[in-house]
Amino acid sequence: MDAPHGRGIATGRAMGLICIFNGPNLNLLGTREPEIYGRDTLDDVETLCAEKCRELGHAMRFMQSNSEGDLVTWIQEARGKADAIVINPAAYTHTSIAIRDALSAFEGPFIEVHISNVHARESFRHHSYVSGIASAVIAGCGIAGYGYAIDTVARLLGHD
Ligand code: DQA
Repeated sequence: MDAPHGRGIATGRAMGLICIFNGPNLNLLGTREPEIYGRDTLDDVETLCAEKCRELGHAMRFMQSNSEGDLVTWIQEARGKADAIVINPAAYTHTSIAIRDALSAFEGPFIEVHISNVHARESFRHHSYVSGIASAVIAGCGIAGYGYAIDTVARLLGHD
C-alpha cells in the first residue's frame, strides 16, 4: 500500500500551523468522476494550499488517507500542535462519529470542505456528522474551496 500522501511541513513565516486532511478516494482526484470532481489532482490541491499558506504566512501539513483510523490519529496528533484544521472527510463525512469525536477534541477552529456541492447530490450526502461543530463549511467551489478555507482560517486566527 502507498504511504500516506503528503510532503510534511512546508515552511513559511509560520504564524501558525494549518493541518489539511483529506479522506478516502481523494487520492484519485483528476481521474475519479471528473464530471463531478474536475480534472485537478491531489497534487494540484496540495500546491494550491501550499501557495495560499505561504502567502498568508502559515506552515502547512497536507495529508490524505483512505483509512478512518489514520484520519482520527492525525486529528488527535494535531491537538496542541496545529492552530487550525481544514478537512475534507470525503465519504466519512456522512458516516463517521469517530472523526466527529476527534474533531470535537481539537481545541482550534476547523473548516469542512467538499469539492462538489453535496447538497445537490444523492440524499445520503446531505447529512454531515461534522458540519454541526465546524467553524465553516465550504461545498461546491471545486478545489478553490480549499483556498477559501485557508483564507477563513487566517481570518479566524486574526492572521489575515
Ligand atoms: C466529497 C463529497 C463526498 O460526498 C464524497 O464521498 C467524496 C468527496 C467532495 O469533496 O465533494 O469523496 O467530500
